[in-house]
Amino acid sequence: MCGICGFVGTGNIKEILLKDLYQLEYRGYDSSGMAIRNNHKISVFKSVGEISYLDKQLKNIEIGGSCGIAHTRWATHGKATLENCHPHLSNNGKWAIVHNGIIENYLSIKNMLLAKGYKFLSQTDTEVVVNLIQDNDNVSPIRAVISATKKLQGSFALAIMNSERDVIYLAKRTSPLYVAKTSNGYKISSDISTFFGCSNSCFILQDDQYAMVTSKSATFFNQNGEKIKPIECDVKSSSLDNMTIKEPHYMLKEIKDIPMALSSTYRHIMSTIDEDKIRKFCKGIKKVCIIGCGTAYHAGLVGANYLEKVGLHTDCYVASEFRYANHKIDKQTLYIFVSQSGETADTLACAQYVRDKKCKSIAITNVVHSSINKIVNIVFPTTAGKEIAVASTKAYNCQCLAFYILACIMKKIKYQAKCEKLIKDYSIPKFDNSLVSAIKNSEKVFFVGRDWDVVTCNEASLKLKEITYINCMAIAGGELKHGTLALVDDKTLVIVICTREHIADKIANCIHEIKSRRGKVILFTTLDFDFGEVDKIIKLKSYKNDFDPITTIIPLQQLAYYTSVDLGYNPDKPRNLAKSVTVE
Ligand code: M6R
Repeated sequence: MCGICGFVGTGNIKEILLKDLYQLEYRGYDSSGMAIRNNHKISVFKSVGEISYLDKQLKNIEIGGSCGIAHTRWATHGKATLENCHPHLSNNGKWAIVHNGIIENYLSIKNMLLAKGYKFLSQTDTEVVVNLIQDNDNVSPIRAVISATKKLQGSFALAIMNSERDVIYLAKRTSPLYVAKTSNGYKISSDISTFFGCSNSCFILQDDQYAMVTSKSATFFNQNGEKIKPIECDVKSSSLDNMTIKEPHYMLKEIKDIPMALSSTYRHIMSTIDEDKIRKFCKGIKKVCIIGCGTAYHAGLVGANYLEKVGLHTDCYVASEFRYANHKIDKQTLYIFVSQSGETADTLACAQYVRDKKCKSIAITNVVHSSINKIVNIVFPTTAGKEIAVASTKAYNCQCLAFYILACIMKKIKYQAKCEKLIKDYSIPKFDNSLVSAIKNSEKVFFVGRDWDVVTCNEASLKLKEITYINCMAIAGGELKHGTLALVDDKTLVIVICTREHIADKIANCIHEIKSRRGKVILFTTLDFDFGEVDKIIKLKSYKNDFDPITTIIPLQQLAYYTSVDLGYNPDKPRNLAKSVTVE
């Protein structure tokens, strides 16, 4: 995935780049680095691991210069080692590059360059690009960048420097890239949030556009090298975007933010969405198809339940599967894309495909300026505020609420009173710490539920494995006896979720089956129902079905968080993952 940033202008370049890198760390934290031009030479500084390691390494180093690029990496090609850490230099040391994306044809280009005598120090696709630029360096620098990157297949946001002048060259396809004028120069970044507080507007590079950025100007080009007028947009942070926190981790803060985020989402939708316009837009729709990844996919499954409840036949797909499944795309289907970031590569690709087929689409996203918002017909926003922890929490609750409201709007059902009640009444429950010991004392953890509680089970299981590395799985209660029950023994913890009255007796049967095999059962329920013998019951407040998926997940988000902390991990930055999955 990776995050890139850069600056040309006056000020302490090292500090400016470090500050922006910290903002981008959610995009990957396998390694980080920066390249700074000083005295006609490019100096490169790199470190494996979180940004704080690079920060420490540079603490006592004076770095002058007024032009630099920087990178925070989520490894795709090559291990998380110093050699593979960006920025990469060309063989002649004249060019430096940072890259977000994946170059699909890098091996054939690498072989071509090897045949010409180029040497490679890393396993990355990026080092191939910087040497390809050197190989095309017989015209002006921007033309060299254009002609080299025209040969690339795949996705890229590239920031490139040349040792001869204080200029950053940019190239973009699929991966996001922005430019903003500040009081002391120009900034470039993968994410608009790095411009908060230093700029009110920015330029958005479109696919196959290029830019040449100096301390005084930013000039934009198309693939033919002709100057173009860039798209400009506002740089606005939301009131929930406050980055300073009292809690030890962002994940805990974000769980605590949930009531405020739900209220903000509800009020924002109320004040910005034209309900008649939505109904007119949805006229003639016979079916709904929801697409997302990870937690957003789970929110889509909750959404599918809401839409089915109001009488709309709905399917929900994982974007990476939908993408290659050759589904029939038709004009009587409404396509809804769910994505916290609005930048997830697989979800974006599906949205683009649906747009190319001229079908109707809506995006439920949490980031105003995200790429997906520019592809779909209508944006149905969540305003959960910035989510930093890799494990998604408050965005999920808000996505579910957005689906509920959208389903009601589509069928002209009143939703305001119920939403108001939820917002007024709901508060985050106190966490029961004994649950952490129950997890730690078990060899296997299963989550069991039925109906839409299975979705909560899936989301709870994803949260737990993502930040505690415990091997767990979710299963529909009725499926237990078709195989998984074979794994249940006295070292097994089964977390059972039941909010659905009409199948409470079926869940009671599951519990009997588990207890007969000496499994431990912790039951999370909103119901006053006799489920028989369990090891612990966590009684949850009920929202009479409508909002149970939104609230039931919260103690399970807490469970994952507190277990992770207890095991000594950093829940905000789970290994091998990154917040935004901007590559396929
Ligand atoms: O930004 P998106 O909502 O499109 O992200 C989708 C998934 O990558 C994301 O939900 C991921 O599964 C989270 N790490 C789960 O906590």
